[in-house]
Amino acid sequence: MDKVRIGIIGLGYIGNVHARIFSRDERAEVAALYDIIPERAEKTSKSVGGKVCYSREELFENCDAVLVCAPNKTHTDIASSAVSAGKHVFCEKPFSIGLTDAQKLLDVANSSNKVFQVGHNRRYAPVYVKLKELLQSDKAHSAHIKMNRGELKNPVWTGDVNVTGGFLYETTIHLFDMMRFQFDEIAELVAYGSQHEYPELDEFSIIFKFKNGFHCTFASSSDASWHFPFERIEVFAHHRTLMTQEMEHLIDSQGMDANFETYSWAMTEKEERWGYVQEDKAFIDAILNGTEPPVTALDGFKSVQLVESVYEAIRSGEKIKFD
Ligand SMILES: NC(=O)c1ccc[n+]([C@@H]2O[C@H](COP(=O)([O-])OP(=O)(O)OC[C@H]3O[C@@H](n4cnc5c(N)ncnc54)[C@H](O)[C@@H]3O)[C@@H](O)[C@H]2O)c1
Repeated sequence: MDKVRIGIIGLGYIGNVHARIFSRDERAEVAALYDIIPERAEKTSKSVGGKVCYSREELFENCDAVLVCAPNKTHTDIASSAVSAGKHVFCEKPFSIGLTDAQKLLDVANSSNKVFQVGHNRRYAPVYVKLKELLQSDKAHSAHIKMNRGELKNPVWTGDVNVTGGFLYETTIHLFDMMRFQFDEIAELVAYGSQHEYPELDEFSIIFKFKNGFHCTFASSSDASWHFPFERIEVFAHHRTLMTQEMEHLIDSQGMDANFETYSWAMTEKEERWGYVQEDKAFIDAILNGTEPPVTALDGFKSVQLVESVYEAIRSGEKIKFD
């Protein structure tokens, strides 16, 4: 097959990350670029090539696969129209906002025989791949998870609930997906939330119970600091603690004394350390091999379901149970 012609919609931060990565993949070609601010597409085109398009339709005419890299609230509409145009789709997280739109997009994605992948990049980050590998040899009991941000100011729309759908859709959703990847499907949850700096709930404490009996506490603040590590998973097993620090380190402490082993990806280039290179490769693999991508539309839908369930638990004060 000829090179997969990639079209990117939204040439801000993450659109450019993907554009750079695909420009180095010999199985792909950055073919078409569209942003509602045309200068952004023009700037990307100058550095990695690709036809600058002035509408979504023009972009669809010039590519085989569409990357949805515009802000959250646009995902359902853009991704649905790309599927309808017969394209493979890579949709950045979050899959969608709200259960109604998420269900609509899931139905559209399921109606297509093309690839639909969701951008939960952390699943490919070496630190989390290693954690999963280490957990295969041990039965973990519980975990404590933290997913903070220092602010909701950059990009500016991250503080606008009408664009994001709420803080949990921004950063926290990555580790909601991660919990399913590492531990199991969620059986039930209780949650508390409060509002401080932003005009929405910006502070969360959640307890999750999984179908296999595992349980964890989860803290997420959008108004903390960028203190390292703002993202951390501590997993507890029989005389063993495994701790990740963002996507840079994994510490494995085993036995009754204070010994520990450290794995580090601090020297790995960020695009690979964060899993972006691997997820883009997986997208091309799925297209060329006709296989299911590692993070499917259903995975994206389930993350939205978790976000909405946490908001619902806080609104109602009730425990939420999943079938
Ligand atoms: N997986 C990750 O680690 C990760 C990291 C950053 C962002 N994201 C996600 O990617 C998306 C974009 O985030 P960002 O940080 O790149 O934002 P950004 O603001 O830097 O870029 C968004 C771009 O989309 C353009 N845009 C807005 N509406 C559009 C539309 N209707 N059609 C075409 N272009 C449009 C804007 O002009 C802008 O250039 C968000 O949904 C975000 O959650 C994911």
